[in-house]
Amino acid sequence: MIAETAAPPYGQVLRLDELLRTARVHDDDVDHVLFLATHQSCEILFAIALRHLEEIRAALDTGDADMAVRRAAPLPRLMATLTRHFDGLATLTPAAFEGIRAALGDASGFQSAQFREIEFLCGLRDSRYLKTGGFTEEDRARLEARLAERTVTEAYRHFVDTCADRAAAERVRLALLEFDDAAAVWRARHAVLAERFLGTAVGTAGSEGAGYLWRAALRRMLPEVWTPLP
Ligand code: HEM
Repeated sequence: MIAETAAPPYGQVLRLDELLRTARVHDDDVDHVLFLATHQSCEILFAIALRHLEEIRAALDTGDADMAVRRAAPLPRLMATLTRHFDGLATLTPAAFEGIRAALGDASGFQSAQFREIEFLCGLRDSRYLKTGGFTEEDRARLEARLAERTVTEAYRHFVDTCADRAAAERVRLALLEFDDAAAVWRARHAVLAERFLGTAVGTAGSEGAGYLWRAALRRMLPEVWTPLP
């Protein structure tokens, strides 16, 4: 028998009532639940990734290679989890997807401000995305702040240029490469998923659809970590 403790129980610590009410997991039809809750889950993982990227930048700026590697370690696993989420969505029937799409209107992951924050924070800064329809004023303010702040790429470049310990620098490069490799796989899986459901049709945000995502799949969050150190 497990003893009673004064500590708040699991459900309270995780604020599960609030979380599941927000996720509306008991309201919509089950296909919508899979689709929407998967996106919500992705947004939580994006938020976790952002926190880790900020910590990596801070570690690189203080020359702490071990901390940078430690904070980078979960990132490829988070990206792989995000990729598995696409596998789950691929089980929707075409009819179920069409029903969801009709209900979605213009809403699209393209309007994920956090995803754009990840790109901007890494150094993939394209201010044209600030004009993305559907962003709130708050989203835009956060993204503008990201455009003005130091990027992980800048911190990495400075770290590599000033680090006397080449083995440590290489460990950092490989840890960041693991993340970017997993991000590239996520992008490609996303394009395949869009192709599966949309074929050559345009996306809900009005882009070329799968064609846009295939081009985006060539982008790298941290292009410099793909080049071996001298
Ligand atoms: C059946 C599921 C999905 C389909 C068919 C799909 C399709 C698309 C398409 C066609 C675009 C291009 C913009 C547009 O015109 O809409 C896009 C962008 C995007 N989607 Fe999805 N998506 C799906 C699921 C997801 C999920 C689960 C996420 C996670 C949050 C997500 C995140 C994004 C992001 C971040 C972008 C912008 C990518 C970039 O600009 O590089 N998508 N999606």
